[in-house]
Amino acid sequence: MKKLYIRTFGCQMNEADSDEMALAFHQAGFAPCDTLSQADAVLVNTCSVREHAEHRAVSYIGRLRLWKERKPGRTVVVAGCAAQRLGRKLKIQFPHVDIVAGAKSIEEFPSLLTSRGITDAPIPLEGESGTASPCAFVTAMRGCSHACSYCIVPSVRGPAKSLPAEQVLASAEAKASLGAKEITLLGQTVNAYKDGDTTFPKLLLGVARLKGVERVRFMSPHPVYMNLEFADALASEPKLARHIHLPVQAGSDRMLSLMKRGYTRAGYLEKIRLLKTAVPDVAISTDFIVGYPTETEEDFAQTLSLVREAGFSFAYCFKYSPREGTESAALGEGLVPEEAAQQRLNRLLETVREESRRAASAYAGREIEILFENARSGRTSQNYWAACESGARPGEMRKAFVTGVEEMSLKARILP
Ligand code: SAH
Ligand code: SF4
Ligand code: F3S
Repeated sequence: MKKLYIRTFGCQMNEADSDEMALAFHQAGFAPCDTLSQADAVLVNTCSVREHAEHRAVSYIGRLRLWKERKPGRTVVVAGCAAQRLGRKLKIQFPHVDIVAGAKSIEEFPSLLTSRGITDAPIPLEGESGTASPCAFVTAMRGCSHACSYCIVPSVRGPAKSLPAEQVLASAEAKASLGAKEITLLGQTVNAYKDGDTTFPKLLLGVARLKGVERVRFMSPHPVYMNLEFADALASEPKLARHIHLPVQAGSDRMLSLMKRGYTRAGYLEKIRLLKTAVPDVAISTDFIVGYPTETEEDFAQTLSLVREAGFSFAYCFKYSPREGTESAALGEGLVPEEAAQQRLNRLLETVREESRRAASAYAGREIEILFENARSGRTSQNYWAACESGARPGEMRKAFVTGVEEMSLKARILP
């Protein structure tokens, strides 16, 4: 039996795609392994969202030359968003790469492996059950049909496509029957999901009703699709996690308009109000980009003030990275000097940290519910990491009392 090692860069959608490709490899006779040195094939699933992310994936691929030379018959497969963007260039730069499979061709991946002769005796799938993690990802949508000026995702993943509702539910059900307690639905604008009469809120409720499912999350919704139907669903079904990652990107209307996000600062705050009115204990986290071309100190001050006003539980903060082929990369002028962008990033990180600490400290002395991911710790519905002295079983949902808060993590005591 041959062995496959997987290295995934990028977002959860890439994680889910890696799982799908692993299944195709499995059917071709490859069992997963934990180290590169044991492997006969390596799958590198790449990200291209920022230059730094792509660079990390590309340098990893470069380092595989020696690995491949060490033992004859080894195979290097490069997949994902950077593979889509760079295509044949990758093979020219790295002759040791055997197969390039871009992110758009994920559905054809199994036949690609067969056509390239990557087949061995198939391994039966039995025996795999019961080992699944308590948390599983399920793809609900592929691609993206927005055109945010800075973003490479639509060009490397193609237009948005909702997968059939039966397929999404069947996939969630299969993961739940293998032991998953928490299902995270994935898509770049996952709340734009629609298949016939099945809207996103209906899909979420469908997943929440599956046997064995205790909690449902999703990534990433887009603010423009946040509506009353969703807020009502959230309020009616406690299994829907009280955490929403709702990327805002910037606090100034001028930046939001240049970024082509489709909402204003006030519009975004209105969506948060809608959610918090429906479910007062919902935690909202976000993404920010600083140093977008022409961003002024005044624009940036609006981003800082939004952090205070919105009360985010957490935020990922990124320095703008021009991506070839995107609208904003073509802007020749107004680039924010590197030093100023870095300084803004540091200031934003500091403000976010203060606000996250403040939000986390509100949980001291309160009762929470932890879904354990290992023997001692797990996450709350609001997506806080919580650790306990006495253990539970992974996959177990337990009530606990918060005894302390450290930065963004909770210390808790399991309640009898
Ligand atoms: N589909 C999601 C986000 C996908 S990319 C959404 O629409 O919100 C994840 C995050 O990467 C984005 O939210 C954004 O903050 C960041 N990002 C995307 N392109 C970027 C770029 N060119 N430079 C810096 N950050 C970027
Ligand atoms: Fe990129 Fe915008 Fe699509 Fe998100 S919605 S993936 S930021 S284009
Ligand atoms: Fe990266 Fe592609 Fe995800 S560019 S962030 S792996 S969609």
